Amino acid sequence: MKKVFGLLGHPIGHSMSPIMHEAAYKNMNEEATYVGFDVAPDQLEHAVKGIRSLGISGCNVTIPHKVEVMNYLDEIDEEARQIGAVNTIVNVNGYLKGFNTDGRGYIQSLLTVTESLTQKNILVIGAGGAARAVISAMAAHQPSKIVIANRTEEKAQILADMFSDVSASIQVLSILEAEKQLGDFSIIINTTSVGMSPNVADQPISLKNLAEGSVVSDLIYNPLETVLLKEAKQKKAHTLNGVGMFVQQGALSIEHWTGHFPKIEPMQEVVLSQLK
Ligand code: ATR
Repeated sequence: MKKVFGLLGHPIGHSMSPIMHEAAYKNMNEEATYVGFDVAPDQLEHAVKGIRSLGISGCNVTIPHKVEVMNYLDEIDEEARQIGAVNTIVNVNGYLKGFNTDGRGYIQSLLTVTESLTQKNILVIGAGGAARAVISAMAAHQPSKIVIANRTEEKAQILADMFSDVSASIQVLSILEAEKQLGDFSIIINTTSVGMSPNVADQPISLKNLAEGSVVSDLIYNPLETVLLKEAKQKKAHTLNGVGMFVQQGALSIEHWTGHFPKIEPMQEVVLSQLK
């Protein structure tokens, strides 16, 4: 019987997940479909119960439900617990387990432009849910230092304290101080929404002091090239937009659901065709 997968979000109108997942299933010869479910916040608990009662095989979870959904699952994977959010639910005979593939998806994408994170100085801009996922996954790769810079410095400090056990060398800088010391970092990651469409002229940090040969990565994929990435390119840095993370997190969800990691290229192709 055809399996049903889905996305719980609100709103979900612009989501590229359905076409991306269906492209993957087609390529894998997996008889499955992927449906976007627009779930209002006060309906989330019912929607999760619906996964069981309707026999939906698995769901992705997106804004604004990633944290709240944890209350309604039977089990939460360790990594998702550390990130504090779930983006993937696996349904095994009505038993719902929550995972988070955002952090690992990001690292897999980052490793296409740098061979390793070991001994690197990494600057993370932002201290929200996306930063938490990225930092959580990075900590396992033994970077030399992770520095968080955020508009609201207290939030950066809270995040740094949260990870002080897993990564001894996690620090906080103001955005201004991070700009001054930018030359110390070989990987710079924007996890904020600054520069996202429609506010495409905005930039989260100045790259004036960027060291040549660094990696500058933006989680944003709309536009494909933010002004941050444009400046980075001019300064001869390696750049990475958010498409890779989006595709990899989806591929890792599919691996949880089917036991097979899908081919990335067909997924990436349909996503890019929507964004160009
Ligand atoms: P997400 O889950 O996508 O990370 P979030 O948890 O709302 O979303 O976090 C958004 C991040 O983007 C935060 O770091 C936020 O900074 P503050 O903690 O100071 O709010 C950052 N951000 C959003 N809009 C911003 C702006 N206009 N300028 C600077 N930082 C911004």
